[in-house]
Amino acid sequence: MRIFSLPRHCVFILFSSLLISCPAFSADTAALLATADASRVDKLVAKCDRCHGDGGISDDSEIPHLVAQQASYLLKQLQHFKAGERDGGRMNKMIRKLDDQQLADLAVHFAAQELPGQGVSTATTPALVSSGDQGRGIEACASCHGDDGRGKQDKYDAPALAGMPLTYFATSIQSFADGSRQSDVEGVMGKVARALTDAEIQALASYYLAHGGRNPL
Ligand code: HEC
Ligand code: HEC
Repeated sequence: MRIFSLPRHCVFILFSSLLISCPAFSADTAALLATADASRVDKLVAKCDRCHGDGGISDDSEIPHLVAQQASYLLKQLQHFKAGERDGGRMNKMIRKLDDQQLADLAVHFAAQELPGQGVSTATTPALVSSGDQGRGIEACASCHGDDGRGKQDKYDAPALAGMPLTYFATSIQSFADGSRQSDVEGVMGKVARALTDAEIQALASYYLAHGGRNPL
């Protein structure tokens, strides 16, 4: 199954049954995704659509799409909301009563759907995306989020950004910068976010939005 394309070292850890976890991707996470069954959450999904848009494709600039996002990333965020480690407002309440397997079922359901293209981008790639800014300690966005903004399954499990709604993009960077969101492994995103200016955040948000849709990873 495609969603089960784990980083190689995690697969090793999983199958060698060692109790060492990967920073972003524990053996528990892998096991939950491996046994996930999207057909079990058909009814629950309708509730998500109320805020996240039909089929998990958002039409609200403040709310993220759920489709074509990495299953491991989605599950990780749902677990943070449930544990109260990430403040998602009404989101936290929404999933309070769901167990970990249901959260994994939801993650697998949305990860497998496509985000339709929103126009072909003619924007040139900003330097911050392709090479970062060494002088200010900013690593290239693409090194973690992938060259095409589709996200990357590695020790950080950075999410897909292509097609992300503008306001959500900017407010999530601000929440890493002011420390209200600390769900990032090793604080990697906080470090980047604190170094960006408001104008850069807006430019990056526009670039990724114009980057169009994405297929499931
Ligand atoms: C009442 C509205 C509402 C409902 C219903 C809702 N969500 Fe959300 N969700 C939000 C908001 C708002 C955010 C953004 C939170 C933030 O700003 O950090 C969010 C964020 C998320 C994220 C994080 C995405 C990311 O890119 O980090 C996931 C995953 C998620 N929701 C999954 C779900 C699922 C699955 C359901 C259905 C079981 C659901 N949501 C139902 C409002 C809602
Ligand atoms: C060293 C790795 C790394 C680099 C470099 C990086 N990011 Fe991230 N980013 C992450 C991780 C990991 C997360 C998810 C953290 C979590 O689990 O909540 C994230 C989350 C985000 C989010 C929130 C997405 C969502 O769905 O909530 C945005 C927006 C974002 N990054 C934009 C950027 C931009 C723009 C750059 C370049 C200026 C950048 N990132 C550079 C690792 C990185």
